[in-house]
Amino acid sequence: MAPPVILSDFYGLEHLACGAIVCSPEGAIRYINPSAEAILEISHDQACKQNIDLFFQDKNFFQQLRKDMQNHVVFRENEYFLKTKNYKTVCSTLTASTILNSNNILIELLPMDQHLKVTKEERRIIQQQANAELLRNLAHEIRNPLGGLRGAAQLLEYELKDKNLTEYTQIIISEADRLQNLMNKLLSPYHLPKYESTNIHELIERVRGLTISEFGDEIALVRDYDVSLPEIIADREKLIQALLNITRNASQALKKSDKSQKTITIRTRSDRHMCVHQKKYQTVIRLDVIDNGPGIAKHILDKVFYPLVSGNQDGAGLGLSLAQDFIALHKGIIEASSKSNRTCFSIILPIKNDLQLSEEKVHG
Ligand SMILES: Nc1ncnc2c1ncn2[C@@H]1O[C@H](COP(=O)(O)OP(=O)(O)O)[C@@H](O)[C@H]1O
Ligand SMILES: [Mg+2]
Repeated sequence: MAPPVILSDFYGLEHLACGAIVCSPEGAIRYINPSAEAILEISHDQACKQNIDLFFQDKNFFQQLRKDMQNHVVFRENEYFLKTKNYKTVCSTLTASTILNSNNILIELLPMDQHLKVTKEERRIIQQQANAELLRNLAHEIRNPLGGLRGAAQLLEYELKDKNLTEYTQIIISEADRLQNLMNKLLSPYHLPKYESTNIHELIERVRGLTISEFGDEIALVRDYDVSLPEIIADREKLIQALLNITRNASQALKKSDKSQKTITIRTRSDRHMCVHQKKYQTVIRLDVIDNGPGIAKHILDKVFYPLVSGNQDGAGLGLSLAQDFIALHKGIIEASSKSNRTCFSIILPIKNDLQLSEEKVHG
């Protein structure tokens, strides 16, 4: 009989984003971490009554794995198809190794879709940082000669004999002002975030009120809140601005549509065991803004979060890019999915984070 399992023995495995299972040389499961519970659809207590064979398609797989480990110490299979407790198939990278000073075996699982998501997210973050830098440099370069251009147009205007021609100098001046405005927004001075305990619903209600006052009662704003959500540490103003940018886009899209019933639903929920910015969180808040408008135009769908991408003629294309920056300050992410009649922007915010310690820069 194996000695009783003491969970603290496996404390280091508890918070891993990948699944970890510890079993005896015979395959009796002694511990599985929360990620493995989610992958295999089984609780820790239930799993500890099982043999690891339960999750393998081939009954001899574990024995083969053990044999291989005697020769190579570590066993690795890149695309192994596991069975969950509910008979679903999961394709995963599987690594097995012996735990030091014991003959127990550690099996690590990284499901393929998660694997792909991590690298996709990594790529997205790098791309985003490169874009932001490029844009800032470009904005600096454009802003400097703009002043000169505007001044020269003014001087020219004073010298003009034919006052009918001022129409043209006025165009130069007003376009220079418009560009200056845009550059100022891009280079907006960085304010240190002010973090405080925040009730997410209070903040949503502010945005709801602002949206109603801007767009009237033509659009129904439906509340679907999970009122049991705890407070989070956040910069209220930045969260409000991020949410407002998303809700305003939804309202603008609905306003242009000929739908008879125009609805935006603001929904809050908690999600468990989420990986955000490659960090595993026990619980996160998910804030969905769902509209029944025409959906994001196909040609910009993949790049709506990029700065200067807009589907509106008079849009600056900065709303979503700024919203993403503000949410990233809170260690969160924004996801979007869109089709005709249903566009959903989801803000994912970790509940327990270390924001008080972080003072990251978004704008240089
Ligand atoms: N809910 C939505 N429905 C349809 N299109 C949307 C929605 N949200 C965003 N978009 C599209 O994404 C574009 C980018 O939005 P944003 O970054 O806020 O810039 P802007 O609003 O200045 O155009 C919008 O112009 C619009 O075409
Ligand atoms: Mg916008």
